[in-house]
Amino acid sequence: MNLDQIKIRTIKREDFDAVVKIDSSVFGATRPEYYEGKFFCSMEVKDQMVASMVAEVDGRIVGFVMCEFYLGEYGISPNEATIDTIGIHPEFQRAGIGRMLIEAATKRLKAAGVVKINTLVVWDDPKMVPFFSSFGFNPSPTINLELIP
Ligand SMILES: CC(C)(COP(=O)(O)OP(=O)(O)OC[C@H]1O[C@@H](n2cnc3c(N)ncnc32)[C@H](O)[C@@H]1OP(=O)(O)O)[C@@H](O)C(=O)NCCC(=O)NCCS
Repeated sequence: MNLDQIKIRTIKREDFDAVVKIDSSVFGATRPEYYEGKFFCSMEVKDQMVASMVAEVDGRIVGFVMCEFYLGEYGISPNEATIDTIGIHPEFQRAGIGRMLIEAATKRLKAAGVVKINTLVVWDDPKMVPFFSSFGFNPSPTINLELIP
């Protein structure tokens, strides 16, 4: 695919259904509640959607990235952001769309004063680790602890 065919733009409320559909095609489960929170609550309360983007090909949404600013919780500085979720429709993967989305979101976050971007991946995920490494993401000095009670 020619990269000129891909348009990256800021996410809008009307993109909700398309994003939920791509998410379910990638993860195999539909989770509209998760995206309702992302789209509607944060958008209205704090304008946290500023760096979330979608990719369009011929007017069809084929990928998205959801980003949020941290708000100082857990000692994390407010000028840090997180990439929550990224999803590219299976038919459009490995065409450079994920790269375009991350680069656009990073540019937007940097312009907004963000100095560090975090994301969580399964440590040995064979797709996500090389994908994020290709932008210079490195393992952070903190680790995620969990308890299954
Ligand atoms: C992983 C994903 C986001 C990558 O997006 P993409 O548009 O397919 O990736 P790109 O074409 O932009 O690839 C950019 C670089 O990332 C790396 N990469 C991407 N997919 C990869 C894969 N499957 N295996 C290894 N490296 C990969 C490569 O370095 C690639 O550069 P190259 O093509 O020049 O070698 C996409 O395939 C996807 O949505 N996967 C499933 C969703 C998912 O697991 N989301 C995580 C939850 S947050």
